[in-house]
Amino acid sequence: MEVRFQVIRQQQNSSPVFQTYLLEVEPGNTILDCLNRIKWEQDGSLAYRKNCRNTICGSCAMRINGRSALACKENVGSEIARLQKTRSPSGEENTIPEITIAPLGNMPVIKDLVVDMSSFWNNLEAVTPYVSTASRQIPEREFLQTPQERSLLDQTGNCIMCGACYSECNAREVNPDFVGPHALAKAYRMVADSRDQETEKRIENYNEGTKGVWGCTRCLYCDSVCPMEVAPLEQITKIKQEILKLKQASDGRSIRHRKVLVDLVKEGGWVDERKFGLHVVGNYFRDLRGLLSLAPLGLRMISKGKFPLSFESSEGTQQVRSLIEAVQALGAKDS
Ligand code: SF4
Ligand code: SF4
Ligand code: FES
Repeated sequence: MEVRFQVIRQQQNSSPVFQTYLLEVEPGNTILDCLNRIKWEQDGSLAYRKNCRNTICGSCAMRINGRSALACKENVGSEIARLQKTRSPSGEENTIPEITIAPLGNMPVIKDLVVDMSSFWNNLEAVTPYVSTASRQIPEREFLQTPQERSLLDQTGNCIMCGACYSECNAREVNPDFVGPHALAKAYRMVADSRDQETEKRIENYNEGTKGVWGCTRCLYCDSVCPMEVAPLEQITKIKQEILKLKQASDGRSIRHRKVLVDLVKEGGWVDERKFGLHVVGNYFRDLRGLLSLAPLGLRMISKGKFPLSFESSEGTQQVRSLIEAVQALGAKDS
């Protein structure tokens, strides 16, 4: 079948432009196969990254039809089926199936589909992604782990550092301090590792301001695009649980985080993002320094159109409220 590939081309510091390539392909061809053919048969100047062609190295992540994915994993047939696309970006009737390819987001473009991943790697480094050397220096014996201890690392160990989650991360888009989902998934891998002796220090670090777990807006995009099912948001939630366990008695903000979350969901069926930061960090307008620390982030969110100006309660608010009250009543009975 004939497919039209709309590829965003861009040089550093210039505006992106669409370039169209027509290709005769099979539904089972991967997007990477198609890009290779475009490069080898039509336009040798097209730039993109690739290596293993087998969903292992993470090099070929890019935005395919609007969502970040691995070009060597997705194929033409499933892309067309997914979109059932019949119109081109210009809105004209289009009988030829069309696939759009763009570079990853949240990182500057070097050329075409190649992005500068420096911030991605620097943010990974910021969570100290190594089992602490202090524990490695004990000389007498190896660091044995039980199968159960090892199994705690399976999911996060699958990360291939492709950058798809980072590309889609809403928090990264507005908060340059936030380390990103890949880094926090790796951070949990360290927290869960029975050989690591720095757990408390790590948890302190991931608990700081909005650079760690509290910077995440829980948009779920990272979980939905990750090609290896690492589920970064799930790992972020596990770190939060560790923080809450460790700091329950001493840290007002951690406790408030949980209370505000439940109160807001009970009130409106889901979280009113406008109130969340003000109540947790600003302590219901009592913590002036906390409130001021939110101002730059709030302004960036408004400028990027990511600050909700209004809130509508969920249609299921009454049911959600009943469920929360039932669970709270059970908790009160047990304690
Ligand atoms: S859930 Fe959090 S970490 Fe994941 S993409 Fe959304 S804001 Fe980023
Ligand atoms: S968590 Fe998933 S999407 Fe993010 S870098 Fe790792 S493999 Fe890629
Ligand atoms: S080329 Fe290695 S993951 Fe796609």
